Amino acid sequence: MEAGALTTLQDARMYDVAVVEPDAPQRMRLAARLSGARQLESIEALVRAMRPGHGLVAVFGPGLVGPYGFQQVHRLTASYPELGAIFAVHQLTTDILQQALRAGARDTVVLDDDGFALGQSVERVGSLLSSGQARAAAAAPTPAPMMSQSVSPGRLIVVFSPKGGVGKSFLAINVATAMARRTDERVALVDADLQFGDIAVLLGIPPQTTLVDAAAAIQYADPELLRSLVSRHDSGLLVLPAPVEPVPGGAVSPQDVVAVCGGLQAMCKYVVVDLPTQFDEYVLALIEAADEILLVGNMDIPSVKNLKIGIQALDLMALAGSKLRLVLNRANVQVKLDVREIEQVLGLRAEFPIPNDLAVPIAVNAGIPVVMNDPNSAASRAIQNIATSLLGPGGRPAAGDRQRKSKFALSLRK
Ligand SMILES: Nc1ncnc2c1ncn2[C@@H]1O[C@H](COP(=O)(O)OP(=O)(O)O)[C@@H](O)[C@H]1O
Ligand SMILES: [Mg+2]
Repeated sequence: MEAGALTTLQDARMYDVAVVEPDAPQRMRLAARLSGARQLESIEALVRAMRPGHGLVAVFGPGLVGPYGFQQVHRLTASYPELGAIFAVHQLTTDILQQALRAGARDTVVLDDDGFALGQSVERVGSLLSSGQARAAAAAPTPAPMMSQSVSPGRLIVVFSPKGGVGKSFLAINVATAMARRTDERVALVDADLQFGDIAVLLGIPPQTTLVDAAAAIQYADPELLRSLVSRHDSGLLVLPAPVEPVPGGAVSPQDVVAVCGGLQAMCKYVVVDLPTQFDEYVLALIEAADEILLVGNMDIPSVKNLKIGIQALDLMALAGSKLRLVLNRANVQVKLDVREIEQVLGLRAEFPIPNDLAVPIAVNAGIPVVMNDPNSAASRAIQNIATSLLGPGGRPAAGDRQRKSKFALSLRK
């Protein structure tokens, strides 16, 4: 084994170090900075050099920083968990950083003269590999450096429903947008539905980097990196979408997603999360971490039944009773369940009713949140009530808030 002298003796026994670079002089320069590293001229040579089950830190040189290199490294990192990939670049741009992360790289290092940064990176990635699963390392408690950025972490607001199609994403998008427009503090929206997430589509944001990238990046505890992965919507809202293609279950662990939210909470006053409709650890972890839970249902019997089952299955009352806030969406549809009956069945006050409103599908077709597309619509005004409550005294009033104060809410309640 030829692990470099720069690693500790103990680590040296646990992983190999290789430099992969087609250009021979460049390859030698890189290897010189990592004394003892193997020199390989191609990705094929690297595959031949790999020993199954044995950790290998591979530094990919500038000759592989490009579409071909990213693609090949992506294939490798997907098949060999024991490979710790590092890109060594002349110049680091956000674009390169994002592509490197997508390729599964653990780090991207700018080449300096003495190779100190590279040596440190190899050491860090190597010890990640030897401490067993990198995933376990990533799942370690929320990165401290990020949390120390702000005095107190932002509030985590999750939107949940045990059933799809009730308006969960509509609610998450519009509440977050309304909040972003009424405060100077940062507001983030996370699409945590990795199977059916559609926030990117609904907001017209190309999901170049997603929650999956953020989960891969969270182990670096680097606020700049996390910030570079988040998109900005016209409303000022920061958005972390889900990938367009469904992601296999388990690709992002509950700990990772909570850590990503923690990272965002360190830089944003409010983080709104659209949860999937599953009853599992992933959802439970976020519900547990949340400061407020908007529980969304419709007013028909199947929907109320699903809410009841969801509350029981997740033991939500025990876990999060005081954090639960019931939102009855499309509340004026003529199916007529009495609000009071619903409250009794669920043991929750129907705090926020939202009417069925044609302005909603019109806004969806325009790719603009209804609170921006038609701020005076009944649905927008109902959403503003929720935003007001979540913002507390710090929020600005919504445009036109005072004169039309939710007639609808009053008519439902009494
Ligand atoms: N208050 C409302 N009025 C009219 N249409 C609505 C309302 N709420 C949601 N919708 C529509 O219902 C459909 C499902 O909403 P969506 O937010 O995608 O549900 P979920 O995320 O729970 O699956 C969407 O087409 C949405 O535009
Ligand atoms: Mg949805």
